[in-house]
Amino acid sequence: MTTPINVIQQSQLDPRQAAQLRAIYESSFPPSERGDVSKFAAAIASRVYSLFTAIDGNDLLGFAVTLRLTPSDVHLLSYLAVAQQARNRGIGEKLMRGATQLLRDNAHATALILEVESPDESNAEERHLRERRIEFYRRLGATMIEGAPRYRAPNLAGTGTLNFKLMWLPLVDSAKVPTGEQLKQLVLAIYVQSYKLTSGDPLVVEALQELK
Ligand SMILES: CC(C)(COP(=O)(O)OP(=O)(O)OC[C@H]1O[C@@H](n2cnc3c(N)ncnc32)[C@H](O)[C@@H]1OP(=O)(O)O)[C@@H](O)C(=O)NCCC(=O)NCCS
Repeated sequence: MTTPINVIQQSQLDPRQAAQLRAIYESSFPPSERGDVSKFAAAIASRVYSLFTAIDGNDLLGFAVTLRLTPSDVHLLSYLAVAQQARNRGIGEKLMRGATQLLRDNAHATALILEVESPDESNAEERHLRERRIEFYRRLGATMIEGAPRYRAPNLAGTGTLNFKLMWLPLVDSAKVPTGEQLKQLVLAIYVQSYKLTSGDPLVVEALQELK
């Protein structure tokens, strides 16, 4: 089905669209995966993060947020969400295809890294949802990064960590699934840039040692 959705990059939203984004953000992610929304808006305005939106008329129906993992040309998909009432109409796929094209054409991005919740250790219903999400990314061309089986992120709402799998979505033919030193540098960049941890943080030290 084709929808009259436009995918655009924005660094400022009008108050109505900002409220729509906030509502989608808060209903799509648990507190453990959510950062402070005002800091997040400031980071988009200052262009540290890039924001891509799916717009229907004047309404914001979905968004993707990415972060360049400097000094590489690989970007992290920090958030992707579509309004609950608009899901399963192809908007998520259109948003991903639009955002990756803009990243490749305008920011010379070579690949996107995706953090996906691990289906292991979850109950049957949650496992099914997580597997569907992984399938969604596979259909877009992403594959598992096998070298980071124990990757985990800090819980943003408290203590402890969240188990994730890392996926790799190449945007140019030469972008092969990272291994070895390249993988180490990318995982370190995620911890430092996205989670604001230092390279000496025990989680970072342990996670880097566990890479295969
Ligand atoms: C993942 C998401 C962005 C997809 O958006 P969408 O517009 O529904 O996607 P499309 O219509 O293009 O594609 C549908 C596919 O999305 C995935 N999907 C849709 N709703 C989903 C849900 N509630 N949970 C998990 N996956 C879902 C499925 O793979 C689905 O295909 P399927 O029905 O064959 O299983 C959307 O479900 C969402 O916002 N989820 C909550 C936030 C989230 O999980 N973000 C991803 C973080 S890793």
